[in-house]
Amino acid sequence: ALPFPTVAAIDGACMGGGTELSLGFDYRIAGSHPKTEIGLPETKIGLIPGWGGTQRLTRLIGPSLAAEMICAGETVKVPRARQLGIVFDVVPSDQLLEESRRLLQWANQSGDYREIRRRKKLPVGLTEEQMTFTFAVLHAQVSAKTGGHYPAPLAALNAIAKGCNLPLEDGLKAETEAFLPLVGSTISRNLIAVFFMTQRLQKDPGVADASVKSRDVGQVGVIGAGIMGAGIAGANVRRGVPALLIDAVPAGLEKGVAAVAKSLQGRVEIGRMTIPEATAALARLSSSLTVNALSDRDVVIEAIVENEAAKVKLYGEVEKLLPPGAILTSNTSTISITRMAKSVKAPERFAGMHFFNPVDRMQLVEVIRGEKTADATVSTLVALAKHIGKTPIVVRDCPGFLVNRILFPYLNESLVMLEEGASPRGLDKAATAFGMPMGPVALNDLVGLDTSLYAGRVINTAFADRAANTHILEDLVAAGRLGQKTGAGFYTYAKPGRGADDPALAAMLKKHHKDPREIGMEEMTDRLFLPMLTEASRVLSEGIVREPGDVDMGLILGIGFPPFRGGILRWADTVGLPNVLAKLKRYEHLGSRFQPTEQMRRLATEGKGFYPDAQRGGDLLEV
Ligand SMILES: NC(=O)c1ccc[n+]([C@@H]2O[C@H](COP(=O)([O-])OP(=O)(O)OC[C@H]3O[C@@H](n4cnc5c(N)ncnc54)[C@H](O)[C@@H]3O)[C@@H](O)[C@H]2O)c1
Repeated sequence: ALPFPTVAAIDGACMGGGTELSLGFDYRIAGSHPKTEIGLPETKIGLIPGWGGTQRLTRLIGPSLAAEMICAGETVKVPRARQLGIVFDVVPSDQLLEESRRLLQWANQSGDYREIRRRKKLPVGLTEEQMTFTFAVLHAQVSAKTGGHYPAPLAALNAIAKGCNLPLEDGLKAETEAFLPLVGSTISRNLIAVFFMTQRLQKDPGVADASVKSRDVGQVGVIGAGIMGAGIAGANVRRGVPALLIDAVPAGLEKGVAAVAKSLQGRVEIGRMTIPEATAALARLSSSLTVNALSDRDVVIEAIVENEAAKVKLYGEVEKLLPPGAILTSNTSTISITRMAKSVKAPERFAGMHFFNPVDRMQLVEVIRGEKTADATVSTLVALAKHIGKTPIVVRDCPGFLVNRILFPYLNESLVMLEEGASPRGLDKAATAFGMPMGPVALNDLVGLDTSLYAGRVINTAFADRAANTHILEDLVAAGRLGQKTGAGFYTYAKPGRGADDPALAAMLKKHHKDPREIGMEEMTDRLFLPMLTEASRVLSEGIVREPGDVDMGLILGIGFPPFRGGILRWADTVGLPNVLAKLKRYEHLGSRFQPTEQMRRLATEGKGFYPDAQRGGDLLEV
C-alpha cells in the first residue's frame, strides 16, 4: 500500500473505468463543472464493472444504493454524488486542484486515510436476514425491469450479493467471475453496437457532402395545434427555440397551448425542470389563429390533419409569407413528400420532418428528403432536430418512410395470423417474448385502429406485390372499436393501459377465420419478424437510408425494437443469413413477403452479413 494518502480530482464526465479508478483512491473530490457526472454505466452495454466497481462502490455507499446505481447503469450529478458519499466534497472547478492538495495535506497530518483504507477492505457486514431481504427485493426489481432479456444487471447484482460480505479481495474475485461470461457475448456486442450507432447519429450531419452548411434556426412555426403540433412546439420551446403555434380553430389552439403548459408542468413535477426554466420555456411559446405571423420564421413545421389537399392549399398560403431561405416541412405520416413538393415554389426547401407520438417521449425524428430537397435543407433540419434533443435519421421519400414501412408488414402479418386462428394474446406474447415492449395487437390498439387501417392501406397499396389483404380492422373500425381511445379495440380498456380480453371479440374474429388452426409460438415469432426483415433489406438496398445502422436505430427508437437484439438487421446477422434463408423457405408459400431479397441472397452466398462486422452463423440461433 502507498505510504501516503491519495485523492482523485473529478471534473467532467467520469464514467465506468474512470469511476472505478477513482474508487481505488482514498478520497474523491468533484469540481462544480456542469458536465461533472459520476457513474458505472457498464450494464447499459451488457457488461458489469470489472475493475472493482461492484465491490468498492458497495463498500462506500452500501449494497442497496450501489446495486441500484450499477444495475440501472445510472450516473449521478455532483450534488447527489456528495449526498451519497461518493465524493468527499464539491468545490468550484477552478479551485479543484488547490482543494485536492489541501485535502491531501489534512489526510496526511490526521492519518484519517488509514482508517478509510482499512474499512474499504472489510466485508460490509450484513446479517443473514439483512442479506436475504435486501437481495430478494433487489432481485425482484431487477428481474421485473430486464424481463429476462438483459443478463448484465442480474450479474452485477450477483457479484454484489456474493462479494459484499467477504473481504474485498474475495469480493473482487466474485466480480471477475460474474464479469467474464458477459464479455463478448452476443447481447453485449449488440448493445455496444447500439451505443456506437447512437454516437454516429449524434455526429451525423445528415448529408454526405461535408462542405454543406446548415442554417441557424432562430425560431420556428408549427401549424396545427393537435396532438403532434403541440408536442413539437413544446419540444422546441423547452430547448430554447421560440415557437409560434397556429391552429385554424380557436378551441384547438387553446387545447394545444394548454397541452404545452401541462407537459412543462409535468417535467417540473418529476424534477426534470425548475419552475423558472419552465416559465422561460412557456414564454417562448406564442400562438395565433392565422398564418400571417409566420413572416419571421426560419422553419415551419406543418402538423394539420392528414389530408393532402388541405396541406397543399395551406402551403400555397404560407410559402408567400415566409422570409427568404425559410424551410417548410410536413409532419405527415403517409403522404409523399416528393408529390407535395410539386405544389410548392421552392421544393429544395421543402422536406418531411416526421416526429413520433408522444413527441415528449419519443426521440426519433425522420427527416424525409423529397426528390428535390437540397442538402442544406436536410442538414439544417438534422441540426434543428438534434438541438431540440431528438435523434434524426435522414430517409429518402417512400411510402411509410423508414419506420412505418417496416412496421406495417409486422402489424399486417399479425392480422393474417388472426385470420388463421391465432389469438391476440398469443401473438402479443410471442412478440414480447422476443423482446418487443408490446405486441402487434396491443400496438394496433394504442395507435388507433382507424389510423392503422388508413396508414396500412397506403402502404399495402404501394407494396401490393407483398401485402396480404385482411379485413379485420375494417370490421372493428366499423363497429366503433378504435382501440384504447374508445375503450375497446382488440382488447377492452377500463382505463388506458393494459387491455382485458373481450369475449365479444371472438365472434368478430370468427367471421374472418380461414381454416383456423393452432399456431405455435415459433411460427408466430418467425412470421412476425421475417416480413419485417425482408422489408428492411429492401429499404436498405433501395438506398432509402444510407446505412444498416439507420434501419436498426430507426426501429429501436421508433417502435422499441429490442436493443439487445441490436435491431432487425443485426438480429439477422446474429442468426446468420443462411439460417435466415432456411427459415424463410418454410414460409415461402405464404407470399413474396417471405422471399429473401437479392441483397440477402448475395450476402448469404458471400458469407457476409448486413454489417461488415457480422458474426457468421451466430450463437443466438433461437429467434
Ligand atoms: N397522431 C400521431 O400519432 C401522428 C404521428 C406522426 C405524425 N402524425 C401526423 O401529424 C399530423 C397531425 O396529426 P395529429 O394527430 O396531431 O392531428 P390532430 O387531429 O390532433 O390535430 C390537427 C390540428 O390541425 C388543425 N388544423 C386542421 N386544418 C388546419 C389548417 N388548415 N390550418 C391550421 N390548423 C388546422 C386542427 O384544428 C387540429 O387542431 C398529421 O399529418 C398526421 O399524419 C400523426
